[in-house]
Amino acid sequence: MNSFAAYIQTHKNRFLDELFSLIRIPSISADSTYIPHMHEAATAVTKALQDAGCTHTELCPTKGFPIVYGEKIIDPTLPTVLVYGHYDVQPPDPLELWDNDPFDPIIKKTAIHPEGAIFARGSCDDKGQMFMHIKALEVMEQNGGLPCNIKFMIEGEEEVGSDNLELFVRENIDKLANDVILISDTGMLANDIPSITTGLRGLSYVEVEVTGPNRDLHSGLYGGAVANPINILTKMIASLHDEKNHITIPGFYDKVEVLSQAARNEMGTIPFSKADYENALDIETVYGEEGYTTLERKSIRPTLDVNGIWGGYIGEGAKTVIPSKAYAKISMRLVPNQSSDEITALFTKYFESIAPKGVRVKVTPHHGGEAYVMQPDGLEFQAAKKAYLETFGKAPLPVRDGGSIPIVALFEETLKSKTVLMGFGLDSDAIHSPNEHFGVFNFIRGIETIPHFYTHFTDLYQANR
Ligand code: BES
Ligand code: MN
Ligand code: MN
Repeated sequence: MNSFAAYIQTHKNRFLDELFSLIRIPSISADSTYIPHMHEAATAVTKALQDAGCTHTELCPTKGFPIVYGEKIIDPTLPTVLVYGHYDVQPPDPLELWDNDPFDPIIKKTAIHPEGAIFARGSCDDKGQMFMHIKALEVMEQNGGLPCNIKFMIEGEEEVGSDNLELFVRENIDKLANDVILISDTGMLANDIPSITTGLRGLSYVEVEVTGPNRDLHSGLYGGAVANPINILTKMIASLHDEKNHITIPGFYDKVEVLSQAARNEMGTIPFSKADYENALDIETVYGEEGYTTLERKSIRPTLDVNGIWGGYIGEGAKTVIPSKAYAKISMRLVPNQSSDEITALFTKYFESIAPKGVRVKVTPHHGGEAYVMQPDGLEFQAAKKAYLETFGKAPLPVRDGGSIPIVALFEETLKSKTVLMGFGLDSDAIHSPNEHFGVFNFIRGIETIPHFYTHFTDLYQANR
């Protein structure tokens, strides 16, 4: 065992305790009731960075929640790694589906996590993964010191669209200058199949409102004679996919990146069991766009999904009513070359055009962002690969993921650097869902792997200059 691994073993329980304290702060960015806790979490992250070895930290105010910045610059001629993460979490509801209090973490064994997993909101997305980097800094500092410079930028609005981070990045280009950005906010294939995320999808998110009559009406007196906004909305939504599950919005696919057959064949070699996937979700069969595999559908193809739909009477019993309004929230996951603003505009135009006379339609855009892909041939991927080889004994597979971290494309545009997505979560960790968890193995293995990335990146950087 090298000194990093030995140090981590000795301090493992303290690392977990410290993570638990951070998780206990309910930093839910979407819910204004939790504003004080957002500030509490930002302060706790600042303190953790100081304790781990940052020589300079700042709690940077924004119009929304503060961004935590920290750094340790040891030598300006050495490369600089910028770590990004988020301290905000998704709302935990529905609460009744949790087996424990989402903000009081417990460790439980599961079939996939025989060494135990931390069950709590934010355990994986992203407090647990972000905290691995803070502990990795401590590990390096306590075992010979950093091989290069380090900067941290931990935000509190990732789960609500990172609106203020964009401005912060644009205004602090020099402060954030770096040679590579390192993020752990994605997943890997399995605990014995390490992988690195080489692609993220973009996002366009809209809310739609369909208005019929000026008030809720008696469904007997008026039923049949006026447009029912819920009937209309559901019909409109249903028409957004054709019988092959292609999206029908004109122009939607115009700019979609087309993968070569070779690239698709390569994707086909990624270990994936359709049967396990179906079993884990209790579905008879997968469902999706004709002509694409499940892995392709959930990573390299764009999608359109209703995230929520409401209107009319949903209380106890029956109320005979034609509602005045119906609503839905719709997300579109985008792939390289599609522009989030363009897709939002195409959606809006088309959705308005398919509304029948008798209803009015309003489309309100929410946050969005562009897709990101990295080629697995740069220094940054090579350094990460060497790091995984040391701790997993296997090279990580490059895998394109389906989720979105919109700020990554902006980093490349503004800071001109590549991002390495060293995610240690598993798809089955239930992020955003009840009973979110993060393997203790994954947490520790992450802390072990990260310092090796710093060493190898510094070596490769110096050998290539
Ligand atoms: N960490 C996730 C994104 C993620 C998870 C990417 C797993 C790939 C694999 C992030 O916190 C997240 O939830 N992003 C949102 C988008 C955001 C704009 C709200 C998402 O993907 O829905
Ligand atoms: Mn996240
Ligand atoms: Mn998330």
